Amino acid sequence: MDDTDSPRASKRRKIALPARYSDGGETVMVAPRKTAESALDRLKAKRAAQRNPESSPARRDATPTTLKRTAQRITESSPAKPVKLDATLTKLRGAARESAESSPAKAVRHDATPTKPKAGFFKAFTKPRGGSVGGQHEAATDAELPTVTTPSPASVKQPKVRSARPNTTQNALATPTKGAKDLLNVTTTPAKPAPSESKSVVTLAKAAQTHAINVMVESEGTVYGLPIFQRIVMERCTGRRPIPVTNLDEDYAKVNTVITQTIFSGESNSMLLIGARGSGKTTMVNQILGEHTAQHGDDFHVVRLNGFIQTDDKIALREIWRQLGREMELEVEEGAARNYADTLTTLLALLSTPAELGQKQEDGQVTKSVIFVLDEFELFASHPRQTLLYNLFDIAQSRKAPIAVLGLTARIEVAETLEKRVKSRFSHRFVHLSLPKSYNAFLDVCKAALTLNIDQLSEGESVALSKVCVQERKSKGSPQAPLDSCIVAWNHAISSMLSSPELDPTLRRMYYTDKSIPAFLTAMLYPLATLGLADTGSRELSAVLIHSLLSSPHLLPPDNKLTLLSTLSTLEVALLICAARQTAIYSTELISFNLVYEEYKVLASKAKLQAAASGAMGGAAKVWGREVARDAWRSLSDAGLMIAEGGGDGIGRADVGLEEIGESGADLGGWGRWCKEI
Ligand SMILES: Nc1ncnc2c1ncn2[C@@H]1O[C@H](COP(=O)(O)OP(=O)(O)OP(=O)(O)O)[C@@H](O)[C@H]1O
Ligand SMILES: [Mg+2]
Repeated sequence: MDDTDSPRASKRRKIALPARYSDGGETVMVAPRKTAESALDRLKAKRAAQRNPESSPARRDATPTTLKRTAQRITESSPAKPVKLDATLTKLRGAARESAESSPAKAVRHDATPTKPKAGFFKAFTKPRGGSVGGQHEAATDAELPTVTTPSPASVKQPKVRSARPNTTQNALATPTKGAKDLLNVTTTPAKPAPSESKSVVTLAKAAQTHAINVMVESEGTVYGLPIFQRIVMERCTGRRPIPVTNLDEDYAKVNTVITQTIFSGESNSMLLIGARGSGKTTMVNQILGEHTAQHGDDFHVVRLNGFIQTDDKIALREIWRQLGREMELEVEEGAARNYADTLTTLLALLSTPAELGQKQEDGQVTKSVIFVLDEFELFASHPRQTLLYNLFDIAQSRKAPIAVLGLTARIEVAETLEKRVKSRFSHRFVHLSLPKSYNAFLDVCKAALTLNIDQLSEGESVALSKVCVQERKSKGSPQAPLDSCIVAWNHAISSMLSSPELDPTLRRMYYTDKSIPAFLTAMLYPLATLGLADTGSRELSAVLIHSLLSSPHLLPPDNKLTLLSTLSTLEVALLICAARQTAIYSTELISFNLVYEEYKVLASKAKLQAAASGAMGGAAKVWGREVARDAWRSLSDAGLMIAEGGGDGIGRADVGLEEIGESGADLGGWGRWCKEI
């Protein structure tokens, strides 16, 4: 009896063929001839297929189309193997059809694996099986195999990596296991490109680099060697490189004469260089000494002292000993270990001529000259008894030794603060340095600070610059002398920046307010520092500098009047402090000039007495007359620090408080203490 006709079988059929599966097509229709177990298997497989649409027959049907497309792509990309690929396509198409028509159990078993497509794919290489789809892969030629890999979503997603590594695929085919690993590598680690490919990559990279350099050079306003200029000029702005002294020819000549006489004729001299802050005193002396050192540095010694650093005579003397000892190659400890008087005596002996010491000067024996540069000279004048100044001026005047004492100060009345015995030994030579006297003179100094010429470059800089310029000449076929052309381009950019109408109001405001070269140099720091970073586009270099100079915060006006304190004379500072004291002591708003002047006299006399008692002569030593003080009072009103009120001559109120003045950080000289003591 046929098994299918039995009531048990029909019952089984009922179970195996539920109504909803009757639409399932041929998979279900072949079931009646199978066993109940295989029907159950098929049912499970169907459910699995429903859960996983990727493995459904409809999806499988798409495989030949995908394969066809892949085969087409390969045909297009490698036309040398069309016949082989056509054969592959036919074979694969047949295999796919076969797999679609094959038993459902087989199909399910095969299709259940795609849940792990990569593992299945690599398994096909490592463990080939005959008769299966994997077997079809194995049977296929080397060229066919990649077509099977294309349906893998991971591989489709990375066309660039795959297309960039054709050789890796070939290797994979030659040694399947290794090839599988290599293919894995394709998606994870970059590998060395093939020679032909690397050649093209290198060419591309070179082209990109050249383009970037071109863009950079273009964007730098066609000034070549910009980083070199940028560094040099920034060093100048920060005071690490000297700026050639400009517009001070007369003063330069006077100071140079004194120094020359001391070095060559063995004469002794003393001189005071007086000038506003930033008027170029230090720069000028340094330049003169630098020139002499370059020509005959062995003929003299230089000792540099600064009142801010050597705060008393003992420290100053030790410093002189240290500097001279270093220059004369003496034992430094020898002098340093002794007391002040001994050090001074040894020093004097060291400086003195042999004749002075009662020794016979041999023929050809020349005593070396010493140039003393005392920066912030007024602070040395405030040391008790002014011992150092006395001794130095004494040596100079009595010609014990060929020395020159150059005092640099911003205090015009500094000579008044010298004690009588010191003053009498001073030669009373003065050089007054002024700030630029005209707008054009101011521009000249600015220009001198920012422009360059070949002599000002170091050897290394010249070499670096010529390299850049030679490259430029090669690329443009420029016949011009290379080094010159770079410097000329830079200087041209600076000139056009300084003469531009956009910058004119700013520069004029600088000139007509404080004429400060250091302020201009500080303002230039930001534009210079950001020169390489700025998005210059196609703008000229000068335009870029102007833009960042105008947008830099340094050029904004000061936000309070206390910034004016550093520009006031000693008398003006004293009167302002007295006015602020009166306001604080009497808790009144209005004060009169007479009251303020009385307070000034009292405080100045007190300071004089205290200075005399301690043996020092401070900056507050001189008590100025009423008329001079009245002028100072008026200039305080002009500056806006005193606000004049109606109701009488010299009546007004101080616009700054006593505490504010004390904490402003401005140099108030000896008057600073009266801001704290009431
Ligand atoms: N005439 C000038 N020529 C060249 N540079 C100048 C000139 N005047 C000022 N400068 C520049 O201004 C800056 C300040 O100059 P310097 O330090 O010599 O002034 P100073 O008179 O010594 O000031 P201070 O009293 O504060 O010591 C320097 O960078 C200097 O190069
Ligand atoms: Mg100075």
